[in-house]
This record gives sequence, C-alpha cells and structure tokens, in this order.
Amino acid sequence: MITYGSRDKIFLLSGKNYSYCMYVNRMGILQHLYWGRKIAAADACFLKAQRGVAAEPSEGDRNADMATGGMPQELGSFGRGDFRSATVVVRRKDGAAMSRFCYVSHKIVKGAVPLAGMPCVRKADETLTITLRDALSDIELDLNYSVSEDSDILVRNMVVRNAGKEAAEVEKAFSFCTELPDTCGTRSALRLAGAWASERKPIVTPIAEGSLRIESLCGYSSHAMNPFLAVLSEDCGEESGECYGFNLLYSGSFAITADVSSEKSIRVQGGVNDCLFGWQLKSGESFVTPQAALCYSAAGLGGMSRAYHDFFRENIIDPKRVYVRRPVVINNWEATYFDFDNEKLCSIIDAAAQLGVDTFVLDDGWFGKRDDDTSGLGDWFVNKKKLKGGLKAVIGHCKEKGLKFGLWFEPEMVSEDSDLYRAHPDWAIGKAGVEPCRGRNQLVLDFTRREVVDYIFETVSKILRENEISYVKWDKNRDITENYTASLPADRQGEFWHRYTLGFYDLAERLTKEFPNVFFEGCAGGGGRFDGGALYYFPQIWTSDDTDGLERTKIQWGTSVCYPVSSMSCHVSACPNHQTQRTTPFATRGAVASLGATGYELDLTKLSEEEKAQVREQIANYKQTDELVLKGDLYRLSDPFCTNYFCEMLVGKDKTRAYVVGERFRGDPCDHDRVLKLRGLDEGKTYTVKELNVTASGAALMGAGLFYPRLPDCGSWIWHIEEVR
Ligand code: GLA
Repeated sequence: MITYGSRDKIFLLSGKNYSYCMYVNRMGILQHLYWGRKIAAADACFLKAQRGVAAEPSEGDRNADMATGGMPQELGSFGRGDFRSATVVVRRKDGAAMSRFCYVSHKIVKGAVPLAGMPCVRKADETLTITLRDALSDIELDLNYSVSEDSDILVRNMVVRNAGKEAAEVEKAFSFCTELPDTCGTRSALRLAGAWASERKPIVTPIAEGSLRIESLCGYSSHAMNPFLAVLSEDCGEESGECYGFNLLYSGSFAITADVSSEKSIRVQGGVNDCLFGWQLKSGESFVTPQAALCYSAAGLGGMSRAYHDFFRENIIDPKRVYVRRPVVINNWEATYFDFDNEKLCSIIDAAAQLGVDTFVLDDGWFGKRDDDTSGLGDWFVNKKKLKGGLKAVIGHCKEKGLKFGLWFEPEMVSEDSDLYRAHPDWAIGKAGVEPCRGRNQLVLDFTRREVVDYIFETVSKILRENEISYVKWDKNRDITENYTASLPADRQGEFWHRYTLGFYDLAERLTKEFPNVFFEGCAGGGGRFDGGALYYFPQIWTSDDTDGLERTKIQWGTSVCYPVSSMSCHVSACPNHQTQRTTPFATRGAVASLGATGYELDLTKLSEEEKAQVREQIANYKQTDELVLKGDLYRLSDPFCTNYFCEMLVGKDKTRAYVVGERFRGDPCDHDRVLKLRGLDEGKTYTVKELNVTASGAALMGAGLFYPRLPDCGSWIWHIEEVR
C-alpha cells in the first residue's frame, strides 16, 4: 500500500512485512526516513519529527546546502554539499554538472510500470512516481517505487529526462539510492563472488567508513560478481535478524556501492556501471535505468532468500514458463564434446530412452564448421558432414524413442573462421586498427547494431521454425572487450555497454515471443549471467560448468541466496569430475542435482547396470519432488562453506510435504550425534520421515531435530517428509 500525507508530505510504502518511508523536506529534497519492520501510517509523523526534521537546516540558513551532506536521501546529487557518491550526474552543454533535485509532483498508479526493451517486474499492486527537477538545470527525474501487498520486495528505478532545449550528457544514472541508519552495531555486507566453475560464493565483509563497491566491467553480469549486495545487521543469521537485499534486474556491466559517511549512515545505491558510461540526451529525450529489487527481511538471510524466490517466480520469470514441469534432460557436452556423429548421438538417445529421460539436448558442435572452438560460431546452419540427414535425422530418432529435442546456440558470438565473419567482419565488436582480444578463440557480435540482432534473429528462428525443437540452451562464452562500436560517433561511445545489453534483451524478447512453446535455458560459460534480468527470459539457467558432487553444493547454496532452486539447472556428470578430478558417489551427484532442474551430462552408454538403476530411481524421485523444486520454500540447514555438511530442505507452501537433501563431506570422528533441526514445518502437524521410519510433530522435528546420518566421504542422504493425517 502506498499513502501520501499531504500535510507532512510523507510517503509511506508498505509491503508484506516492511514499510519504507520518506518525505519532502523544507528544501524540497526527498529525505529518507525509514525502511524496516512494518509500521502504521500514524507512526510516519513520529519518524519525520525524530529523524527527518533533525537533519534539516533551519529556515533561512544561508549554509543550508552544506547540511545535505549528512542528510539521508533518496537520491545523491553532485556539487552542492553532499560529498557522498551521487546517484545521478548530468553534464550540461556549458560543462556544469552540479545539481539539486527537488520535488515537483508525484502520482500513484495501480499496477507496475513496464519498461520498454528491458526486463521489468511483471506485476505489482501500485507504483509511486515522484518527479524531481534540478533547480540548476532543465533535468528532471522520475523515481519509481512499485509495491505489492504480498511481497517483501520493493522495486525501484529512475528515469532521467532532458526537459531543456540543449543536449546534455548523463555521466551517471543509478537505478536506486537509499540510506540505512547507524544502529550503533556493526553492519556487514554480503556479496556473491566467484569465478568460472565456482560462481556465487557468499562473501561477508565488514562495512566501514569509506566506500564499498562491487561491479562488473565485463559487459555482462559475470562469474566474478553477481549484481547483488546484502547489508546485514550484527544479529543477522540464517533465520533471524535483519538484512537488506539489493538485486539489480540487469545483465550488463553494473555497480553497487555502499558508502559510510561521517554521520555513519550507509548509502547504498546501484545500477548501470558509471565507469566508461555516458549517454547523450537531446531535448525531450529520457534515459531509463534498469529496475532494482530491494528486500527487507527481519527473518535473516533465509527470509530474504525466500522473499526473492517468490518474487522471481511470481513477478519476473515468464508466467507461461515458470511452473512448467522441467524435462529431465540428457546433454551430450561432457559425453562427446565436439566429437560426435549420428551414431554416437543415437546411442546416447537410446540409452536415455531406456532410463526415462525426457529430452535430449544437443550441445555445441552441430553447426557450421565446428570441430573445436576455433571456428563456426555465427554459422547457424546444420553441419551435414557431421550429422548425416541433418537435425531432422537426430530429431526423428528422438521422436521414435519418445524423447523431445533441445539445441544449443551461442547467438551473441562469432568465430573469425566462419562464413558470417568473412561476409561481415565489421559485425564483430572491435575498433579498426586495434587487434581484438580473443576469448575462447572467438569474438563478440556487435549487438548495439540492429541489423546484427536482426540477422541472428532470422537465422536462429529459421532453425527453430523448421525443426521440432522444444528446448534451447542459449550460451555466451566470453567477456566483452574493446567496448567500441563503429555505429556510434566518438562522443557516444559511453553508450556501448548498455546498448549491447539492450541488444541482447531485444533478441531474447523476440525469440521467446516468437517461440512460446520453446523452453529457453540461459548459460554463460556455466553461470556467468545468472541474474534477475536474464531470468525474465530464461526460467532456468545453467548454474555452473562445475558439476562436481561437492563443489556443486556450494555453488547451489550461494546461488540460492537470491535465486529460486527452480531456476538452477543441475546435472549429474561423470567421474572423475571433468573440472575437479574428484570422484563422488553417483547417488550423491543425483541427490545434489535433485535440488534444481535435474538432468544428466555424461555418456549414458558407459554406465554400469547399477548406475543405470540409480538413474531410473533418481528420475522417479525427481518426478515425485519436482513440485517442491518448482514452488516450494527453501530452508538452508547446513552451510557447506563452514561445516562438514551441506543440507537444504524444500517445504511445500501448504506445509504438508518436505524434501531434505544432505551431504557429509569428510568422515570425521568428532561428528557423532550432531543434531540437525528441520525448519519450515508446521509445529502442530504430525509428519513421517519416510527413510527413517520416524513419526513426529513439526515442533519436535524443528525443536529437537534429527541426528545427522553417519556417511562415508561425500556420502549423501535424502528424506521425504509427509504430513500424517
Ligand atoms: C559452455 C557451457 C557448457 C557447454 C560449452 C559448449 O562452457 O557452459 O555447458 O555448453 O559452453 O561450448
């Protein structure tokens, strides 16, 4: 609910468990008052009196501007007394960039406000737009806030508008800014950082005076840093204490910063990376920033995660695809790499059919001249030398065996050894006269150019139109360099990164619209583009190239801090694992993979009879629990980063069913009789834990708990829990 008290000029926004409050102060500045536990409208005046007015300069104070430096604000401006990082910087024709944005008007509308050409929240109950105008120029801002009664997520973004006659240059335009007050306690920041094959490790560091900045400079959200930051209070644990989450619904180069001022309040803001950024605004033009999903949780990290999971499933991921029962796939990548022919693929398909797999996904290597990673990208035509009878032969074989068919593309890339590059060398990102950086021997197509996106749309569409394809894996295997396009003049090169991202969104929008019955999976060298922007188009993303039974527990744990398990593709692969060389039990790999959209990534023809029996069992288990994967609430029980166990639990929304998966990493003689307390059950209900033959109340299972199973190295367990009626 959004209310505005005109006497005090106070805005109070409330969602499921939180309230967010701000007011227009005497100077016309939008001053931040509060964000935390839900409060009543009557309390807003107390907040203004206690927190707001105290920070305001007195009437007629000639030094008033300098007071803005310590004022909690909804927007940081530049060059007028606020020395913390600005949220927006616009340089005018005369070179001046100082600004003071003041309230002009506001409106409250029903629903969400769609963003053209960018991912955005699909529904909300209400949206507040506050328009501010620079007292020193003709720049206007719209600050948008969308709330929903049933959600703890507040969606924000900003639009910068040139209401003047002369062109201006936006040097920085973040999506949101907010301030968390000093609570006299230590606050820390949690980020999800990593690398290829070890994405999204939760890293917690203290927040101290000065600036903390996380960012991507790779042209996409990246393996190294997820576009997410959380600020944790001292008492924040997995299921208790306060935390604040900041998640950018954006897949390009981003930055999120947390500045602690001498007043000790923490200003958190973020958006499109301002490094190398510039955007020209002619008279009347606007720059629309991506949205950010802000979350307040008084129920610890777990509460925040569940709020984000519901938000992504209900408000971001395509409603037509989000709850689609995920096919169990067999992907041939680690089974064959580039080395396959019809015979090899058909033998994998035959084995898959016998084991109950639903979909065969043909990975890299089926197109152009593609026998290794040096050639072929961009030539989205079947390599008939490799695949006799083309895709139709493979698809026909799948159909015969009762399997559906999926196909890999890497639409944003081009190999120099390709017909596409030979025809259009200028379509690759680069600058004439500068030797381009190569990554995995390939170049990136210039998606800032409409004709390039159009061409890829046509060629990919042709394949999808002419073949029975139910699943697409959309990959992206390198970072973006050179950051230059011949399609823009010298003074507009700062637009490159964001325009590239808009090109990616344009293609994703067109393909997912054109082929509503195709299920699109995202991928970027594993989980390099796992963000809220990508989830808008891809309900599921390949979580990591690392499918090791132990490492995966960490990757999936970290990913779940923000993203729902239904969005994680999780496959069982061969051992020794191709990334870590570790051998883990087949059952463990299956158990870990069952906490996401399950599949297989190995040569099924090489499995022993015992392993085949396990695959059948794993698939049967998955088909029993996939409802919980798609719609359940996640509780993280045992942290693989700091304990000898990994354990997560999915609980149905009606609390009649739950599913627990755990792994013990190393045999440890000191592990005896440790107790694992379950979470999320209904205290008053009675449950059975099938595998243990235990019947107990939810109160007992959560209060007293169960003993951790004793298991060998990397041994795992699965518990199915059901209400006894
Ligand atoms: C990336 C993906 C893999 C596979 C290869 C193919 O690394 O993450 O799953 O598709 O590309 O080249």
